[in-house]
Amino acid sequence: MTRSLTAEPAKSVPLPVREVVFSEEAISLRVRQLAREITRDYQGEELTVVGILKGAQIFCCDLVRHLQLSASLDFMSISSYKQARGPKEVRITKDLEGSIEGKHLLLVEDIVDTGLTLNYLIDVLATRKPRSVFVCSLLDRPSLRLAEIPLKYVGFDAGQEFLVGYGLDYRDHYRDLPYIASVDLP
Ligand code: IMP
Ligand code: MG
Repeated sequence: MTRSLTAEPAKSVPLPVREVVFSEEAISLRVRQLAREITRDYQGEELTVVGILKGAQIFCCDLVRHLQLSASLDFMSISSYKQARGPKEVRITKDLEGSIEGKHLLLVEDIVDTGLTLNYLIDVLATRKPRSVFVCSLLDRPSLRLAEIPLKYVGFDAGQEFLVGYGLDYRDHYRDLPYIASVDLP
């Protein structure tokens, strides 16, 4: 299935998708399975689910709908970019609204690649004394990992191809696709 988005002249022209990698049905099934695991693991605990904007917001909202816990939900936004020379720079552009001291945190991410973005975030959050910090990522690309991440729940393993849809973007496009697809980057 292909879909081209040509309605936004101000942005670069989006690419047609190459192929659907994870269908809407497969994602829905996996999200429910993950929610069951998380519900089982955090039974009787106070859980704060932290969605990482913007990529994880769709996954996170679908996931919490299936949790059978009294979890609270918060969001953070970070921007990260690779400098030509030097390390990846990460910056918090929207912080949590509530205190996390003494709370069990579950960070919900769209994809963990090098792990550097989450590694930075976890270091920052650790200074606020949460009781525990684990990560649930829809996608995991372990082949490129540079930092160790407490990745406890993974939806699917991703290969090397660039993926879009279900929250994942290429230059802010494709987030609204209900499935995950690969694109050939220019
Ligand atoms: P990391 O710091 O290398 O782990 O970067 C992870 C971040 O890179 C994710 O939160 C995404 O925003 C982005 N990213 C990595 N791979 C992809 C991809 O295949 N599609 C869309 N975004 C990606
Ligand atoms: Mg992201």
